[in-house]
Amino acid sequence: MLRGRDDECRAVRGLLDGVTDADGALLIRGEPGSGRTALVRYAHRHAEGRTVLAGSGLAEEAALPYAGLQRLVDPVLDRLAALPNEQRELLRRALAGEGCPPGRQLTLSMAVLGLLAAAARDRPLLTTMDDVDRGDPQTAQVLAFVARRLRHLPVAVLLTGDVATTVDGIPAHRLRALTERESAGVLTDRLRQLTEREGADRLPEQPAASALIALAAIGGGNPQALVDLAEVLTPGQWRGEEPLPAAPPADGALGRAYRDRLDRLPPETRRMLLLAALDEDGEPGTLIRAAGVAAPTSTRSPRRRSPVWSGWSHGVSPSRSRWSAR
Ligand SMILES: Nc1ncnc2c1ncn2[C@@H]1O[C@H](COP(=O)(O)OP(=O)(O)O)[C@@H](O)[C@H]1O
Ligand SMILES: [Mg+2]
Repeated sequence: MLRGRDDECRAVRGLLDGVTDADGALLIRGEPGSGRTALVRYAHRHAEGRTVLAGSGLAEEAALPYAGLQRLVDPVLDRLAALPNEQRELLRRALAGEGCPPGRQLTLSMAVLGLLAAAARDRPLLTTMDDVDRGDPQTAQVLAFVARRLRHLPVAVLLTGDVATTVDGIPAHRLRALTERESAGVLTDRLRQLTEREGADRLPEQPAASALIALAAIGGGNPQALVDLAEVLTPGQWRGEEPLPAAPPADGALGRAYRDRLDRLPPETRRMLLLAALDEDGEPGTLIRAAGVAAPTSTRSPRRRSPVWSGWSHGVSPSRSRWSAR
């Protein structure tokens, strides 16, 4: 059960029913562990009567233009014949790894739109691309184009991305932190599942209210953090009889997700982050001295909305890495 995501679930159902202002597309933005994939799965579960095309952006394929698109549309390539010659050839080449010549992106995007429309001829279509920001930017660009042009088509597009991901012209939902009550709900649900798995003789049936309140604070409203915490708690901790961990386990799924992102950063950036994590007073001057770098000439604070996704993973400059400006 998805706790605290009623608005998003409603928006997804609206997308599938074709009754929203969304004109067929929706972007879900959130931090790692905030529940983006869970909402994609929710959409799949509610997509009865639709053909589902599901893809996800892979960091390993981020430098391969149209690799994400190729995986996404592979099941409907038999519909290529429905496209005009020029579009068909252009799409075929892009999907074969030959890229797209500059100035032909519009034609290519029209080809993808046409392919999805052809695939939706028998049954309406749901196309989902989880973590669109992690994969190749060319795929993200084409999907953004398609997502803006669905008004008269029986095609729904659901995209998810990091908090910094933007797609002009389609509605976006930013997943917020769960409240204490919602977090307690997640923990109680998990305990029930664990009890089913491990037997009721070891774990308590109900967690202590004091433990739930403390754990909700430790989890910071992140569903994955709560799930990871629930995995490592002892029966005594569930009962509120033993001290709780100070943080979610570093080797849990959330820790691994952040480590993956860290691993993709350039070494200098990783070193700076390590220094920042060690620096207790948060004084920029200390950090700069410790890093041994020249002091910045401007006192402006760093841009908050950094294009985390592709800037991080491929060392591209921020301005080039954004496939859609806000
Ligand atoms: N709203 C929610 N209520 C309960 N559990 C959730 C919720 N959102 C996510 N989860 C669970 O938290 C974990 C992380 O969710 P996930 O969708 O994988 O996050 P993301 O894709 O944003 O990194 C999964 O185990 C998922 O089932
Ligand atoms: Mg996910």
